[in-house]
Amino acid sequence: MSTVCVVGAGYVGLPTAACLAHLGHDVICVDLDEAKIANLQQGHVEVFEDGLPELVSAGLASGRLKFAVGASEAVTATEFVVLCVATPEGANGGADLSAVEAVTREIAPLLRSDAVVVTKSTMPVGSAAGVALMLQDSGAPSTVAVVSNPEFLREGTAVREFLGPHRIVIGADDEVAASRVATLYEGVNAPVVTTSLSSAEMIKYATNAFLATKISFVNELANACEALGADIPEVIRGLELDARIGFGGLAPGPGWGGSCFPKDTAALMHATEVAGYGFELLRATVDVNRRQRSRVVDKIRDACGGSLDSVRVALWGLTFKANTDDMRFSPAVDIARLLVEHGATVRAFDPAAGAAARAELGDLLEIASDAFDAVNDAEVLAVVTEWDEFRNVDLARVASMMAKPRIIDARNVLDPKSAREAGFEYHGIGRT
Ligand code: UDX
Repeated sequence: MSTVCVVGAGYVGLPTAACLAHLGHDVICVDLDEAKIANLQQGHVEVFEDGLPELVSAGLASGRLKFAVGASEAVTATEFVVLCVATPEGANGGADLSAVEAVTREIAPLLRSDAVVVTKSTMPVGSAAGVALMLQDSGAPSTVAVVSNPEFLREGTAVREFLGPHRIVIGADDEVAASRVATLYEGVNAPVVTTSLSSAEMIKYATNAFLATKISFVNELANACEALGADIPEVIRGLELDARIGFGGLAPGPGWGGSCFPKDTAALMHATEVAGYGFELLRATVDVNRRQRSRVVDKIRDACGGSLDSVRVALWGLTFKANTDDMRFSPAVDIARLLVEHGATVRAFDPAAGAAARAELGDLLEIASDAFDAVNDAEVLAVVTEWDEFRNVDLARVASMMAKPRIIDARNVLDPKSAREAGFEYHGIGRT
């Protein structure tokens, strides 16, 4: 078993630390946010992540998981330092690596001579090599190795995916360091793909670019189904059985959002442009995604007779997808903003966004206390996040509370026939 310092206790770092402790390693997870660390030391997990509070509690109880403020002290003692700090979108679309650079310079002179620095945050191709150079410039022992081991965790299911991933990608220019990183995953049953540093970084971007393209493709297909009179759920059933297409990632909706797809598509496009290559398909993927939000707003407007001025809209969902409390780059929030720009008043309910929604969006819209409270006297209901709670709702009760029973189901979570039987005018995405 190894000693590991995980730097960053966010959506990636915390599940990584808790899962590595669960696998038997001695882990210390560090962050600059003192309040967050104090909470974690008490076992309080702020992020909405299935199974994570249990793993954190178990790690604290066994002593295999510890939390501390700042990396300096912790890294002097560990064989592995796993970088899980944020790499948000910078000013020009490129990734902002300032947090990675700051940590790299800070830890360099403190590292053990046998340390392996693992880059887990998503970073542009070439960044891990840059980290290696910066470590040397900043006084790290020359024997320290850098390995790229990108994460592929989806929010909400990060623990399950860490312990049961599709694959583990390990990029290194040093075979010994690569096999040492592989030992961290002993007990996890998944193929290990060993590559160069830059290929590992590219695999991460390629995965997210492909998945985003798949969703934009199915959204375009849904729009084509509307134009031509086919039904997208039926079409998808026929598509998925082709093994070359496969199951999953083909749910049409208001477009993709969240903390990864937007920034990673932007960063890959930026990097290829700087390198002199225009990635046309990726640009179209991003453009289609932007348009899809407007299409949902157009549907709402059309259902309301062509104008949204002073229309009372109920919005179900604010998070970027179900089973998370994250509203970053959420299509639901973009749609809310567009509706308000068009003169509508919006009353929204989300099962998880709660206090954060009130703080962030309170000036823009009203936050309802539950799904029924949101629809009271509304002239149209838009379902923009696919929470199960909305799937299983009593539609007759919803219809009886609304001023006009109209639904725009932007996630296709409702059964059109049941909605119509409950008295609704129903419009889904790509279905008749
Ligand atoms: C994603 C990647 O899946 C993960 O590998 C990466 O490391 C981080 O980014 P995440 O952002 O948590 O994970 O969510 P994901 O479930 O992939 O969904 C991303 C967005 O696409 C959401 O807005 C979601 O609603 C949308 N989506 C997803 C669709 O519209 N249709 C789909 O079929 C799947």
